[in-house]
Amino acid sequence: MYSEKVMDHFNHPRNVGEIENASGVGTVGNAKCGDIMRMYFDIDEQGVIQDVKFKTFGCGAAVATSSMATELVKGKTVQEALKVTNQAVMEALDGLPPVKVHCSLLAEEAIHAALWDYAKKNNLVIEGLEKPVNDIAEIVEEEEY
Ligand code: FES
Repeated sequence: MYSEKVMDHFNHPRNVGEIENASGVGTVGNAKCGDIMRMYFDIDEQGVIQDVKFKTFGCGAAVATSSMATELVKGKTVQEALKVTNQAVMEALDGLPPVKVHCSLLAEEAIHAALWDYAKKNNLVIEGLEKPVNDIAEIVEEEEY
């Protein structure tokens, strides 16, 4: 049911933890399944994401997608990180079962929430970044569960 990559990232998640005094912190949840993901970014003055950590209280797919998402955004610029969509995360994991697609949306939205926090703290406007939702259930279609 799950790809080897999903199982690997679930069993050995990368970049778990917190960053003290992070440049941006984003937390999103899903009221329907109760899962919560928090992402911490350390962004340098050139706008490059030097370090990323995450904490996920959720299902295996949420853990695997957050782990992969941190790998995909590390070393990227803010603009490049914006392009890391849930589709990109799923592709990097060799796919997810259809009922688990919404878990990857949590990862995408956690990236956006951390970038939003970074922009707010630095009085920046990040082109293309829309205000993230706190509860992913607001944007997930009913049939995706
Ligand atoms: Fe909720 Fe996976 S079941 S994030």
